[in-house]
Amino acid sequence: MKAQSLYKIPSTIADNALVTDAQYKKMYQESIINPNGFWREHGKRIDWIKPYSQIKKTSFDAHNLYIKWFYDGTLNASANCLDRHLQHDEHKLAIIWEGDDANKQRNLTYSQLHQQVCQFANALLSQGVRRGNVVTIYMPMIPETIVAMLACARIGAIHSVIFGGFSPDSIAARIIDGASKVVITADEGVRAGRTIPLKNNVDEALAHPDVQCVEKVIVMKHTAGPINWVNDRDIWWESLITTASKHCPFEEMAAEDPLFLLYTSGSTGSPKGVLHTTGGYMVYAAMTHEYVFDYKKDDIYWCTADVGWITGHSYMVYGPLANGATILMHEGVPNYPSPSRLGEMIDRHKVTTLYTAPTLIRSIMAEGKDKFSHFDGCSLRILGSVGEPINPEAWRWYHEVIGKQACPIVDTWWQTETGGILITPLPGATETKPGSATRPFFGVQPAIVDNQGTLLEGKSEGNLVILDSWPGQMRTIYGDHDRFILTYFKTFNGMYCTGDGAKRDEDGYYWITGRVDDVINVAGHRLGTAEIESALVAHPHVAEAAVVGYPHDIKGQGIYAYVTLNTGVKEDEPLMQELIRWVRKEIGSIASPDLIQWAPDLPKTRSGKIMRRFLRKIAANEITQLGDASTLADPSVIDALIVTRLNK
Ligand code: WT7
Repeated sequence: MKAQSLYKIPSTIADNALVTDAQYKKMYQESIINPNGFWREHGKRIDWIKPYSQIKKTSFDAHNLYIKWFYDGTLNASANCLDRHLQHDEHKLAIIWEGDDANKQRNLTYSQLHQQVCQFANALLSQGVRRGNVVTIYMPMIPETIVAMLACARIGAIHSVIFGGFSPDSIAARIIDGASKVVITADEGVRAGRTIPLKNNVDEALAHPDVQCVEKVIVMKHTAGPINWVNDRDIWWESLITTASKHCPFEEMAAEDPLFLLYTSGSTGSPKGVLHTTGGYMVYAAMTHEYVFDYKKDDIYWCTADVGWITGHSYMVYGPLANGATILMHEGVPNYPSPSRLGEMIDRHKVTTLYTAPTLIRSIMAEGKDKFSHFDGCSLRILGSVGEPINPEAWRWYHEVIGKQACPIVDTWWQTETGGILITPLPGATETKPGSATRPFFGVQPAIVDNQGTLLEGKSEGNLVILDSWPGQMRTIYGDHDRFILTYFKTFNGMYCTGDGAKRDEDGYYWITGRVDDVINVAGHRLGTAEIESALVAHPHVAEAAVVGYPHDIKGQGIYAYVTLNTGVKEDEPLMQELIRWVRKEIGSIASPDLIQWAPDLPKTRSGKIMRRFLRKIAANEITQLGDASTLADPSVIDALIVTRLNK
């Protein structure tokens, strides 16, 4: 590992930070030595209806697995995001919203948000939604999406938010898995000047013969674009609201009652319904939001993630709102209509805290610094990065051009499964190194193991595991607890297996090296290669397919598909385009292959297992370092693939 430059903590930050380095070390020690005492105190940062007396009951033993936090306490997540702020902060802005078209702006105070949530919660009750029901939300980036989530939480319904980039087939699969009776959507969303036919996608999903569970579709009028209407099933959001009472008491939920489901891709099979519960998740989301972003009550906090991902759940909705923060919410993308949009929005709304993804930084960086010549940026204090490893060039650009060298960068490593940030610098405590997520958050015990599961000490590289539970951890895969145990706790018994590789350097800093399984990360979006392969082989002309990630300048990883066609089918450009459209239809635009290579044969072992390691190297154009091909049934397959790759 080459020597890395260390970035000091700016004195303006250090002087007012919530946590200094010495405090971090002391608190971290305490959190590991005495987790019950540590979390007993920190659990109090949220409001409980019945306070807990039990704190942590957890075991990562795959044969005897249990994860419970604060488990005799009761609370309500929506009350924690709303009601608790009404006494002192009723007029404080909760949401500043800016549309894809910057002329569209809306503000909501905490009291207005509270009122809308109560009304919509009553609307859901009027449609028969009850505690424990799963409600699907497929909406654009508008305040009503947050209203819908918090309304579910208020009445104890479990929300399942689906990112707007998923196709009707993907929506259908998630609705079926959750047996959802109600779907909440909007007529259309808007993104970079284009409309997204949300309601039409829902209609198509519901036309799927296996979707029998949905009784009602609630439709928010957003663009007033044309939509189809199904009488007796579809209801306008507005018409439900006008008759709904503004008072809605919140349900008393047990700490371990489910709060939401969120589907994410794994290395095998269909996407998993990650289930998060209420108490531990809320404590962890609120606490990490406060410490990682060194939250101050006058902050204007902007997380650019879509609410359909975990980042949107924990760091746009639950964490910041539990802390009474003012959030900026943007429909659309921060580099439209031009790369300067990001800077304009920061200046327009006096953003203090920006949390975004490396892929966005790389895409605006590619446009050149002059796009930021009018950018002031003096409101900014803290910059965050999430979703994939940030390359040092992008880190430095972020630091210099956006942060004007005055803002610490928190490179936060975590996962849908972890509910909140696990490895990260703290702005006032951690000197940073470009590309490193640095040190564990309180209560988190990362470790590195070799492929046999042996713990590696000191400076090392291997599989990243977590040795003990933290409150925000997922509790199960909805409807498939065995898969939960198998996926996360069987690989290295007694440890949570992250699926990521990592290095630890001489200072104990962690460097995430990327996935070690068959999951790829495309522009911060997580996809299973198996999912894309099964979409491809579902096409009538495709015999076999193997998908790998390859280095991509902007997206981090691109999708590279090797496709074997059925005998007699012609390998041509129109079919290639059709396959790309096909994957888009099956999964969604985010899974669209960047490159397809025809592969008359795939490299396989004698027992028929596809050797992906060769395919990854060929896709990455690393053909001089292919390694030993002698275990292949037919090593000449490799040469044939190299020849076609070189011609691409
Ligand atoms: C995977 C989880 C966590 C919210 C967004 C993604 C990668 C995430 C980082 C980071 C290096 C990162 C990992 C992880 N990842 N953050 N700061 N540095 N890699 O959530 O979709 O569940 O994906 O994203 O590979 O396993 P997700």
